[in-house]
Amino acid sequence: MKIAIGCDHGGLEHKNAIVEHLKNRGFEVKDSGIYENHSVDYPDIAVKVCADITSGECELGILVCGTGIGMSLAANKVKGIRAAALSEHFSAKYTRLHNNSNVLCLGGRVIGVGTALELVDLFVDTEFEGGRHENRVNKVMAIEKE
Ligand code: RB5
Repeated sequence: MKIAIGCDHGGLEHKNAIVEHLKNRGFEVKDSGIYENHSVDYPDIAVKVCADITSGECELGILVCGTGIGMSLAANKVKGIRAAALSEHFSAKYTRLHNNSNVLCLGGRVIGVGTALELVDLFVDTEFEGGRHENRVNKVMAIEKE
């Protein structure tokens, strides 16, 4: 599985740790930066990572900003993206199982690196359950066409 990732200045340390962790686990990672600590606008990074998913190059994406919220707001404006900002384990698992989320948004100022790595593992290791959730996710995506 190829995973797209990006961050702003609020999430650099976490993003770098996640990239290393995923590579150590054998995943292919496309890192759209930032690569050094300077101030950027999170929507610019979110758009890049989401494009890697909607193009089909990457299956899942991870975005890290200060809270995870700005990234999720921007990502959810992109057609085809289902982004979830979260900070605990239950949601990391169930947003894959039930929502088929394809982007995980984390807050570098909200959770520690250790928790972030555990949430990433749950997110990438959990498959969409389908079944009754399929129709619900389809209804969510149909809102894009309204
Ligand atoms: C940047 O200071 C901060 O606003 C950003 O990282 C993020 O938390 C926005 O939601």
